[in-house]
Amino acid sequence: MSLAILPDKFFLRDAWYMVAWPSEVTAQEPLARTVLGDDLVLFRTAAGEAVALEDRCAHRLAPLSKGRIESDGIRCMYHGVKFGAVGQCLEIPAQPQGHPNMCVRRYPLVEKDGFLWVWMGIPEQADTTKIIDAPWAHDPRWAPSQGYLHVHAHMSLVADNLLDFGHLPFVHPNTVGSVQQADFSTQVTPLTEGVQTDRWYIDVPASRFHQSVGRFPGNVDAWHCFRWHLPAVMSLDSGSAPTGTGARDKPHGSREGAIEFHHIAALTPQDEDHTHYFWIHWRNFEVDNPEMTDIVHRNIMAAFAEDQAMVEAQHRAVRRGAQTVPKAIMADKALTIIRQQVAKRV
Ligand code: FES
Ligand SMILES: [Fe+2]
Repeated sequence: MSLAILPDKFFLRDAWYMVAWPSEVTAQEPLARTVLGDDLVLFRTAAGEAVALEDRCAHRLAPLSKGRIESDGIRCMYHGVKFGAVGQCLEIPAQPQGHPNMCVRRYPLVEKDGFLWVWMGIPEQADTTKIIDAPWAHDPRWAPSQGYLHVHAHMSLVADNLLDFGHLPFVHPNTVGSVQQADFSTQVTPLTEGVQTDRWYIDVPASRFHQSVGRFPGNVDAWHCFRWHLPAVMSLDSGSAPTGTGARDKPHGSREGAIEFHHIAALTPQDEDHTHYFWIHWRNFEVDNPEMTDIVHRNIMAAFAEDQAMVEAQHRAVRRGAQTVPKAIMADKALTIIRQQVAKRV
């Protein structure tokens, strides 16, 4: 199977995508967001239920995001047609009998563990058991920092970036990586719908970020171990522990003298040139210190700005020079597996 660097059909519709932080969706202001090229309007009913509808009125296609939220639905503020939470027409001004066929498309939404997931396929096929669990959200031993990036690049390039942590010593030598990490390879295990990758760096200096919060007296054993869920959600364990404490043989979250993190990255294609990138980074130390929440946030955003600059430049280069065929190296194993799995599903 040949895999173009920007595949024509990389986007799976039968999937859950992170669409917005739950706090962005209110009963006061409609939120417009584009996912897989579909324009959505998000809002809450008076009962607090989050709703996603096509952002086009069924009358003459004005955006419903310019409309007004009412207790049981949203009213288009062009000619006043009102729609309910499943997209049904509730009211047409001066037309008492309504219009049974005047519906807008509804997208199933699920609010879970601090994420708001939208199903982009046929609503009847939405399978909520496929949404990943994030138990860290309810565990007082873990404290979150979270953020969002709007990346001007195709989602497959953003996914490639995360699927090969071999870029850390080159893109992030002064933030979340260290140059010594370049000597270690990645163990890659294909899964039915995803991939597991494990990188351990033994007896190396801690990354600048980990050193600044962990204050290690000497070298560390550090790790990045993640599970990728199709199409584009990464669930990552990372951390650093003093070398010689046997970190590799202990379960995540309970290593001696270590700082440990859990990270979820959820990538959502806006269209073929833009990606929504939502992340939460939990830590297991100083969990009651709000200053540490800010420090972690700043460090992660600094690193992600480095990724963003590289991936956006790559996207522009690919768009300009599509006659150049990419060549694979061994470190591409995980991203190749994911691209093949997505291509098969699409
Ligand atoms: S376009 Fe919405 S009511 Fe006319
Ligand atoms: Fe990166």
